[in-house]
Amino acid sequence: MPESVDIKTILVTGGAGFIGSNFIRYILETRPEWQVVNLDKLTYASNPEALEMFNTSSRYTFAKGDIADREFLEDLFDHYRFDAVVHFAAESHVDNSISAPAAFIQTNLVGTFTLLETCRRHWLNDQVAGGGRFLHISTDEVYGSLGESGKFNEESPYRPNSPYSASKAGSDHLARSYFHTYGMDVVITNCSNNYGPYQHAEKFIPTIIRKALSGQEIPVYGDGTNVRDWLYVEDHCEALLVCLEKAAAGEQYVIGGNNEWANLDLVRYICKRLDKLAPRADGAPYYNQMRLVTDRLGHDRRYAVDAGKLHSQLGWAPRTGFQEGMDRTITWYLQKFKKA
Ligand SMILES: NC(=O)c1ccc[n+]([C@@H]2O[C@H](COP(=O)([O-])OP(=O)(O)OC[C@H]3O[C@@H](n4cnc5c(N)ncnc54)[C@H](O)[C@@H]3O)[C@@H](O)[C@H]2O)c1
Repeated sequence: MPESVDIKTILVTGGAGFIGSNFIRYILETRPEWQVVNLDKLTYASNPEALEMFNTSSRYTFAKGDIADREFLEDLFDHYRFDAVVHFAAESHVDNSISAPAAFIQTNLVGTFTLLETCRRHWLNDQVAGGGRFLHISTDEVYGSLGESGKFNEESPYRPNSPYSASKAGSDHLARSYFHTYGMDVVITNCSNNYGPYQHAEKFIPTIIRKALSGQEIPVYGDGTNVRDWLYVEDHCEALLVCLEKAAAGEQYVIGGNNEWANLDLVRYICKRLDKLAPRADGAPYYNQMRLVTDRLGHDRRYAVDAGKLHSQLGWAPRTGFQEGMDRTITWYLQKFKKA
C-alpha cells in the first residue's frame, strides 16, 4: 500500500447532498490540482444552491445520473479515468426508510453494488490503468444502539435496527467484500451525526431551527432522552480526506465528534443560541415551542463512537468547537430561511 494515494481526478457520488457538497467545496479549496466529477441523481434531498457554488470552477463537472444505472456508469468511466471514487450517494433519512424502504434498498444496496462492479471492471481488468481507491462513506448507525455507557469502535458487531441502517450495513459489507475478494482498494468510514450548512430541512437540527423561527412547535421524539454524537460537517470532510489520501487499503475507521447530546438538551442549547442570535419578537424563549411527540419506530437509544484509531494512526481529531460550529450553522439557516 502506498504511503499516500496519487490523485488527479475523483468521482464524488451524491455531491449535491449535505456532506457531499461540503466535501466538494473543501476539495476544490484545498486540492487545487484535482479535478472533481460530481455524479448525483438530484433527488428531493439534493441542494441546488450547493451546486451553484461550484459552477464557476473549471475543475468541476456535474453529471446527472443514478448510481444504479450500469450503462450510465460505463459511459462515465469510459470518458474519465478516475483515481478515486468517494461514495456519498444514498437515501439517508431514517423516517423515510420506515415509511418507504424500497428506495433505500435500490440506492444503498443495488446502487452501491452497481458502482463497485463498474469500478471492478474498469480498475481491476485494465492492466495499464491500474486500480483506483474506493472510499465508502457510511454511518455509525450500522452498529445499532448503545446503553448508557460504552462507545462503538471498528471492532463492534453490526446490528442495524432500521431499514436505513440495514441498507447501509449491507453496502458496507459489499464494499468490504470487494477488497477481500477482488483486491480492490477499498476504505470504509462510519461517522456519527453531522451538522452544518446545506443539510436538508427534514433532518433534526434544521427542523429545530426552521420550526423555531417560523413560530411552530419544535417536535422531539419520545421523552427526548435519546443520545447522539454530533460532528461539524467540515471536520468530517477533513477526516474523509485524510482517509482518502493516507489510509491503507482495506481499512475501516469510525469518525466522531466526542460530543454527545440528549435530544432534549440539544434543542434547549440551540434555542438558547437562537435567543441570542435571532431573538423572538415577543422576547420569549424559543424553548417554549418544544413539544414531545410519539416516538419513532425502533428508535435507537444512544450512539457514540471512539475515533481513537483514526487519531492514533492518521492523526485526525475534530477541530471545530460545538458553539462555533452551531453558530455557523444557525447563521447559515437564518440566511436561507430569510430568503425562502
Ligand atoms: N448526515 C449524516 O449525519 C451522516 C452521518 C454519517 C454518514 N452519513 C452518510 O453520508 C452520506 C451522505 O449523507 P448526506 O446526509 O449528505 O445525505 P443527503 O441525503 O443530504 O444527500 C444524498 C445525495 O445523494 C443523491 N442520491 C440519492 N440517490 C442517488 C442515486 N441513486 N444516484 C445518485 N445520487 C443519488 C441525492 O440526490 C443527494 O444529493 C450517506 O451515505 C450517509 O449514509 C451521513
